[in-house]
Amino acid sequence: MSQEAPEKTFTLTNDQTGESMKLPVKDGTIGPSVIDVRKLYAETGHFTFDPSFTATGSCKSRLTYIDGEEGILLHRGYSIEDLAENSTFLEVAHALLYGDLPNAKEKEAFEREITYHTMVHEQVHLFYRGFRRDAHPMSVMCGVVAALSAFYHDSLDIWDPKQRELSAHRLIAKIPTLAAMTYKYSIGQPFMYPRNDLSFSENFLYMCFGVPAEPYRMSPVLADAMDKIFILHADHEQNASTSTVRLAGSSQANPFACIAAGIACLWGPSHGGANQAVLEMLEEIGSKDRIPEFIEKAKDKDDPFRLMGFGHRVYKNFDPRAGVLKKAADDVLNDLGIDDPMLEVAMELERIALEDPYFVERKLFPNVDFYSGIILRAMGFPTSMFTVLFAVARTVGWISQWKEMIEEPSLRIGRPRQLYTGPAARPYVPIEDRD
Ligand code: CMC
Repeated sequence: MSQEAPEKTFTLTNDQTGESMKLPVKDGTIGPSVIDVRKLYAETGHFTFDPSFTATGSCKSRLTYIDGEEGILLHRGYSIEDLAENSTFLEVAHALLYGDLPNAKEKEAFEREITYHTMVHEQVHLFYRGFRRDAHPMSVMCGVVAALSAFYHDSLDIWDPKQRELSAHRLIAKIPTLAAMTYKYSIGQPFMYPRNDLSFSENFLYMCFGVPAEPYRMSPVLADAMDKIFILHADHEQNASTSTVRLAGSSQANPFACIAAGIACLWGPSHGGANQAVLEMLEEIGSKDRIPEFIEKAKDKDDPFRLMGFGHRVYKNFDPRAGVLKKAADDVLNDLGIDDPMLEVAMELERIALEDPYFVERKLFPNVDFYSGIILRAMGFPTSMFTVLFAVARTVGWISQWKEMIEEPSLRIGRPRQLYTGPAARPYVPIEDRD
């Protein structure tokens, strides 16, 4: 007869009182185990304190696994290198949403379903006209994505699995259309309606760079690189924007509103805004001879400047996504015959930083944004659109994580606590008596 393994525990002792309590330890499939502290406050009157969540597992998830020390990224168990080399973005989207890569029949059905939803309500077109043409594209995206909940009332009931699925499909299908419209609006060109005979990435490039006046010539190398960029950004575990989507969703807000919250969080330069910041930094550096000056600035603790595109909260090794994109950057630049001086600055910066003891000791390797910016610039996207493209890809991860959370029977609203450091209760002083 097999014996059940004893429950693993972690004993916590209060040094002042000598009291101790056993906390359950939970194991995942792979990766670090977690200490379950949910009963800690009730039993000890203490909260845990972890302001930037460097040691906190906020949920259980079956989607994505990262080993930052080894530079490993898996979606549903598949390595990111295998997915980027062999799959399409929509296959990866299927795996994230439903758990497995699709078979041939499922792939066809999923592509048909997503393609069916690529158009946006015609009224949305008018919505754009309210924005200034020089608005940052991410500000427009925050607005138009949140506004989708004002258009698709038939998929807002989060407790109906069919409606959940419909809103997930709509978001994956419509975000590229909205992103391309945002770009077209900023440059004063007409919106291009989606073309459902093209693949997801081909259609996106067509909507961005096609014009009604002439046929659009598709480059297979660019479409392939676009698809790889989308795959590499599809999901990344419980990062800031994904945690934002989950927290917003935990209040039972509708999925369109939750994804808009994720877009707002992604915008910041420490997160999705980094690819734009990389290009701005390379432009500011300008030439190879100025690199040492900027390296010194990055090392100076009294200077807030950081080398954009270097370092990662989780990866303390080469970001596996950066390896794939480094190669894609070479392919795109060769295909387009681009000899970009900024690329020379980028390559020299990478070389120097990888040898400098400051970066080596702190394990600050180039991250995915270091290379994605270079490719997107070569494709013809303005820097202000880079984070929008990240949002197009990450929508798949956000909505898959949201769906996983809503389907969890133990769903409760997220509600962190705090260490209060303000004044203790004090008497109210009438205004005439205040100093
Ligand atoms: N340039 C110079 N020094 C750096 C950098 C950098 N890019 N990144 C980290 N450091 C230093 C930091 O000053 C600290 O030094 P010390 O130990 O002497 O105080 C040490 O390295 C550890 O840094 P940290 O701030 O504790 O690391 P973090 O996990 O809080 O920050 C990060 C991670 C990504 C915000 C940060 O590395 C950074 O600001 N990088 C540049 C922005 C960037 O490329 N972001 C994109 C991240 S990847 C895409 C995504 O996830 O959205």
